[in-house]
This record gives sequence, structure tokens and C-alpha cells, in this order.
Amino acid sequence: MNAIDVSHLRKRFGAVTAVDDVSFTVPQGIVFGLLGPNGAGKSTMIKILTTLAQPTSGSAQVAGFDVRRNALEVRRRIGYVPQQQSADPDLSGYENLLVFARLYGIGGAQQRQRILEALELMDLGDARHRLVRHYSGGMIRRLEIAQSMLNDPEVLFMDEPTLGLDPLARHMVWDRVAKLRRTYETTIFLTTHYMDEAETLCDIVAFLHQGCLKAYGKPAELTAQYRPGADLDDLFIALTGRPAAKSVAS
Ligand SMILES: Nc1ncnc2c1ncn2[C@@H]1O[C@H](COP(=O)(O)OP(=O)(O)O)[C@@H](O)[C@H]1O
Ligand SMILES: [Mg+2]
Repeated sequence: MNAIDVSHLRKRFGAVTAVDDVSFTVPQGIVFGLLGPNGAGKSTMIKILTTLAQPTSGSAQVAGFDVRRNALEVRRRIGYVPQQQSADPDLSGYENLLVFARLYGIGGAQQRQRILEALELMDLGDARHRLVRHYSGGMIRRLEIAQSMLNDPEVLFMDEPTLGLDPLARHMVWDRVAKLRRTYETTIFLTTHYMDEAETLCDIVAFLHQGCLKAYGKPAELTAQYRPGADLDDLFIALTGRPAAKSVAS
């Protein structure tokens, strides 16, 4: 069974078609990257797959359930790290996770153990009692990932997980995402417009451009098909007509 099945999905906002007849699958247990420039439709796709937005037409299944007909079943099985920062700066890291543990109905002896395990996996154990307002951007992102994995999701959605982070912080997030997949076999669906991130982390990528799916496959195979020696940056330019955003100012 695939973790995600998307079939002829379309989403219109008035005159804008944000997602235009897109179909693809995500096998279980992989890191999948949805790539494309700003405005390509990546966040809209994530919002549909997490049941936060309704598609105009087409269908999608996540963890075996239809996002429209079985939204509650889907929500029970997923985690979501939104593009905007979502952690509460006036609480400690531990307290932020406590709020979510309660939301997910995790109580009793399990509660403290699950929170500490998630913090430890994201390398935040020592910082857990500090207020989040004193965390760096990378620490906040890792806290949000810890938060999203508390309910042991089958599929974890991350929208631009390293947007605005410095190189060291980005590498730490990559490292933790890879560890999360290895440890729990979580299927990870992330969006990014950084091609080095996709090349490092993703087993399979899909390119969106103006709402349309332009390419799908393993990064090495896609780039080799395009031109021997090419990388994802080259492919990005070929598919979208402009260079990908640079993650690091140089
Ligand atoms: N709620 C909305 N209302 C109207 N237009 C929207 C809305 N959300 C997204 N869009 C439009 O849909 C397109 C895709 O946006 P988005 O999914 O955010 O792209 P990405 O995440 O790839 O940058 C853009 O043209 C955007 O302006
Ligand atoms: Mg977006």
C-alpha cells in the first residue's frame, strides 16, 4: 500500500488554479520531496493532504483513507509542521509538547516518557526547560518536528522545514529528519525550493510548476535522464525557466 495516493487533484482559488490535475504516489517509509518555486502550489497540496483544505476536484488518500470522506481517520495518522512558525514563545519546549500531548489524548505515565523521547530525538533534551523565545530558529523547527511526531504519525508533513535557517541548523534538521525515518519508519512528505535539501534528503521528488506536475522520480534518475552530470538545480531551471532559490547567501 502507498502512504499517499493522489489522483487528478485540482484546487482553484477564483481565477487561480493552484493545483492543476496532479496525480502521483508516495510509497511507505520514504522521504518524499515536493519541489517548485514560490507559488507553485506546494503548500496548497500539503493543506489538501492534511485535510485543512478541500480539493476542487479529484481525490487523495493518505494512510489508506480518503482526505474528503475520512478526514478524521487521516488526521489521526498524520503529523504536520506548517510553513509558519507555530511553537508558543512564552512556554518552554517541554510545555509546548505538553499542550500537544493533551490535545492528542496522551496522558498518564506515557505522557512524560513520550515527550522526553521526542525532545531527545530532536536533540532538545538539555534545552527543554528554556522558554522557546530564547531558542534559535533551528531549535524552534526541531521542536515543531518533535511536536508533530508525538502521536506517532504514519505520515509526517513538513512545509519548507528549513526556510530561513543557517547552514548548520539546516544540516541538523536534515540529520534529525533522517533519524526519525530510520527510527520509526515514518513516511515523510516535505516541500522545499532548496535543491540541495532535496538531493540530500529525498528518495523520490516531484516538481510542481504553476500547479502542474512536471517530473517525478528518484533525484539521480531524473537528473541523469535530463543530462549526464546534471544536478537538481539544472533540472529546476529546465522545468521552470529560472534558477532555484539559493539556501545560503554566498
Ligand atoms: N487561500 C488562498 N486564496 C487565494 N489564492 C491562494 C490561496 N492560497 C494559495 N493561493 C494561490 O495559489 C498559488 C499557489 O500557492 P501556494 O500553494 O502557497 O504555493 P507554494 O507553497 O508552492 O509557494 C499561488 O498563486 C497563491 O497565490
Ligand atoms: Mg508554500
